[in-house]
Amino acid sequence: MTRGSKISRALDVRALRRCLLVFTTPIALAAWVGATVGTAQSANFLSTMTRYPESSGEALYDAICQGCHMADAKGSTGAGSYPALAADSKLEAAGYALLVVVQGQKAMPSFGYALSDEQIAAVVNYVRTHFDNDYKDEVTVADVEAARR
Ligand code: HEC
Repeated sequence: MTRGSKISRALDVRALRRCLLVFTTPIALAAWVGATVGTAQSANFLSTMTRYPESSGEALYDAICQGCHMADAKGSTGAGSYPALAADSKLEAAGYALLVVVQGQKAMPSFGYALSDEQIAAVVNYVRTHFDNDYKDEVTVADVEAARR
């Protein structure tokens, strides 16, 4: 190998590095923007990509459900109709409440994709034991798994 060709190879490597930098910078930027947009989306409960950090039934209710069913769970009518979950005899059937939350029903979005089995069990158990509901039979993680099928 001649001296000349060694130098030109070294130059090639440098050019290649510069080239890589030029090409990888936009990819890194796109990934960063994607991550930022993803975080912003977690505020949107309708997104199937959503993941909630809350784990207790109460915190999940406050973060998600009260947006439609209201803080006192008495529901509301206006732009849409959101039934009361307070003193709701339909919640006696644990399987019904569970299915509505996992799979959705009419204007009620499904939360099966957005929440873990533990989170779904927690929030269903929470509404069934609060707001003048007193149904003590707990929904288990195994029940949630079954409701997903
Ligand atoms: C985007 C609004 C919205 C959100 C958020 C929402 N719901 Fe609902 N929910 C509804 C609507 C609308 C219905 C009535 C569906 C129908 O017409 O059958 C409903 C029905 C229900 C029912 C059945 C009540 C009954 O008496 O038949 C349960 C249980 C329920 N929701 C629980 C929850 C829980 C728990 C959460 C939070 C994880 C939640 N919902 C979040 C809109 C919402």
